[in-house]
Amino acid sequence: MSEDISKILGGNEPIAIFKNWWQEAKDNVYKHEMNEATAMTLSTVAQDGFPSSRVVLLKELSQTGFVFFTSYSSKKAGEIAEHDKVALNFYWPQTFKQVKIQGLIKKTSRKESEDYWNSRPKSSQISQALSNQSQPIGSRAELEQKHEDLQKEYAEKELSCPGDWGGYEVTPHKVEFWIGTENRLHDRFVGTKQSEGWSWKRLQP
Ligand SMILES: Cc1cc2nc3c(=O)[nH]c(=O)nc-3n(C[C@H](O)[C@H](O)[C@H](O)COP(=O)(O)O)c2cc1C
Repeated sequence: MSEDISKILGGNEPIAIFKNWWQEAKDNVYKHEMNEATAMTLSTVAQDGFPSSRVVLLKELSQTGFVFFTSYSSKKAGEIAEHDKVALNFYWPQTFKQVKIQGLIKKTSRKESEDYWNSRPKSSQISQALSNQSQPIGSRAELEQKHEDLQKEYAEKELSCPGDWGGYEVTPHKVEFWIGTENRLHDRFVGTKQSEGWSWKRLQP
């Protein structure tokens, strides 16, 4: 690991870095009240068989599923192209509730992607357009220079939605709603999609 990277992360040993980040989160969560209720963990299956998870933002809840937006050239997009079975996870500390979702994923329509793209501020559009998401880059300066160049180039022009950027929708076929309690006797309810409606079971915590 380069010295630069190790400095930014505060070390080069993952468990130690995690420990610091975790402590920082514990120290700050209440101070800044920075709960992001739309953040969800998306897990895909990678080509090597490992699950692969990352946080994305839930931007729309349609009648049929959960919609987020990303690069269609990203690592996750490659994994989705190979396996359309994914999982989502929400945890809301402020209500002590968790929701787990398993489902099938597909791209949203081009129109839906463009509509959302057009609703974004120019600066976010530029960040998304310039990023070859999930590919390595030599330095932060390179990214910032690209951002500055595009900002100048598109100061007076519209930036249209790139062809490799858009939405995905996850249609649930299994869900679990988890309700935390003070005494750890939590409540869990699993729903499985049937040809008509859902069948529900209560699970032990
Ligand atoms: C709070 C939060 C929200 C995020 N929202 C998105 C998002 O909506 N879309 C997206 O592509 N990446 C989002 N990211 C970044 C992803 O976690 C991830 O780094 C990126 O999509 C590349 O993932 P991949 O290499 O597995 O494809 C978010 C990260 C965080 C921490």
